Amino acid sequence: MCGIFGTISDNAVNDTLKALKCLEYRGYDSAGIAVKNGKDIRLFKTAGRVENLQADLPSDLYGCTAIGHTRWATHGEVCANNAHPFYSYDRNFAVVHNGIIENYLSLKYNLTASGVNFTSQTDSETVAHLLAKYYEGDVLQAVVSTANRLQGSFAIVIESVYDGNLYAVKNKSPLVVGVTDNGAYLCSDIRCISRWADKVAVTPDNVIVVANRSGVKFYGFDGEPVPVKFFSVDKAEEEASVDGDFMLKEIMEVPDKVRQAKKGYIECGGLNLPAKTVHRIKRVYLVGCGTAYNSGLEVAAVSRQMMDIDVIPVIASEFIYDSYPVDSYTLAFLISQSGETADTIRAAERIRQQGGFTYAVTNTVTSSLSFVCDKVINIRADAEYAVASTKAYNCQLVTLTLLMTDLAYLKGTIGEETRNKVFDAMDGLGSAIDKILSDSYEISRLAEEVKDSSAVFFIGKRADYPTACEGSLKLKEISYIHSEAYPAGELKHGTLALMEQGVTVIAIACDSDLLDKIASSVSEVATRKARVICVTPYSVDNATLIKIPVVNRLLYGIVSVVPLQLLSYYVAKRLNRDVDKPRNLAKSVTVE
Ligand code: G6P
Repeated sequence: MCGIFGTISDNAVNDTLKALKCLEYRGYDSAGIAVKNGKDIRLFKTAGRVENLQADLPSDLYGCTAIGHTRWATHGEVCANNAHPFYSYDRNFAVVHNGIIENYLSLKYNLTASGVNFTSQTDSETVAHLLAKYYEGDVLQAVVSTANRLQGSFAIVIESVYDGNLYAVKNKSPLVVGVTDNGAYLCSDIRCISRWADKVAVTPDNVIVVANRSGVKFYGFDGEPVPVKFFSVDKAEEEASVDGDFMLKEIMEVPDKVRQAKKGYIECGGLNLPAKTVHRIKRVYLVGCGTAYNSGLEVAAVSRQMMDIDVIPVIASEFIYDSYPVDSYTLAFLISQSGETADTIRAAERIRQQGGFTYAVTNTVTSSLSFVCDKVINIRADAEYAVASTKAYNCQLVTLTLLMTDLAYLKGTIGEETRNKVFDAMDGLGSAIDKILSDSYEISRLAEEVKDSSAVFFIGKRADYPTACEGSLKLKEISYIHSEAYPAGELKHGTLALMEQGVTVIAIACDSDLLDKIASSVSEVATRKARVICVTPYSVDNATLIKIPVVNRLLYGIVSVVPLQLLSYYVAKRLNRDVDKPRNLAKSVTVE
């Protein structure tokens, strides 16, 4: 993953540091900057956060051309040597890279054989050395030759001592270009440059960018100019700050964002597909990664109660390589908070190529995913900063549930009355969640008991099982406690062997039809001395209850996940974890 940035501007150093802070959600293993000052490039990098880098910079660091990087490690351990930028062996080039150079081993082998010494274990360093090798008096030509040697996914920004230009090479990893009256910005994310740039362009694949004070030009890998359109963007607000943790703030925002998501759905015209397309659909895929996948899992379970066509949730990284059937009868919802998750974008590309209809369900309508898909809907959760996704999950569920309800209605598998019931019931969710949040003291107290668990298992049945999956994901990603989710009936096929004192089981019991069944599972684990907590609007024996309000039976997932989000947060806080930036993770995963 990683965030990359480059600028030609009067405040290049400050702008780079600001942009890196904004990009830190893409990785925070290390940070670095390279500044061109006169004929030299001065390069500084450090393991850890951007604030560490900032503290290490000399006060006289100045220049009008700079590149910067925040890293999520793929090749090579987390250390300053593996941090970007990288110098070429002659120090005449410096590069930052996001993506994976898949053929780097053979490139490295050849460079090493020709006498080049590598300073890092990364794939990215090969790019800097290739540029120096190919330079024969024309930087653009060296960039073209280098680009043609690279395989994999890459967005690379390059500066050199030879001219005042910034160069970039792009294939599959995101790269946006912004321009001002007398400068340019190259970056992984529009949001991080729109405070400066008046106009931006999304760089297509297999394109080279040349930027300087007088403008930006685009070339293909054959060196021929290619046309790329710029569009105006709204100025982004300054990076939000928070007293305390973003994660807690974002959980507290869930009621408002859930209301906003429904309002947004109505305002944008909802599903909004031509009747001909709706008629053709015989199969629906819900594709995403992590929390976004869990929202697909939940909505698939809900949809199967409303329609009789195949509704299939699939993990995006599996979709790409497996042989899921796709044809013109296929509708796929590609779910992604950031819209930059590489696996989800690849899945969308595959579905389009094979004739399916692609529908992005995202929190970032200017994202790469939005450009790949046939249609886009905004989940309206507003910016989410904590790595562990919370409010975006609830808004994905609202938007997807409404989309699938409309689809079921248009396909004639539910009537108008049922459709309207679901839509109306959405209006009560905000206050149901408000109630849970105002009673959070009990959840915070339970966290004290859960924090010392040797393992935590989440169980549920039917639409409660995806909630168990999301609860488990939240807990493990920010507390580092081992956790798994199971359909409750599966416990007896293996996992019961792990039940003993010290283990916690969290049961989700919102499906009134299956209450007896989940109560039996609770009893089975309690008998084996596991501590049991049950999230439910009902009464369940042998468990400590987290009571939630009664809502429409199809909408429990949007509500019952909230106590689990809070519980994870409080457990992680009690264990002194960095809840907003958990170890080894990043908010946006832009490599396959
Ligand atoms: C990362 C984040 C998760 C997120 C997943 C998918 O792993 O840490 O919180 O659910 O990516 O992200 P997306 O932006 O595609 O929803």
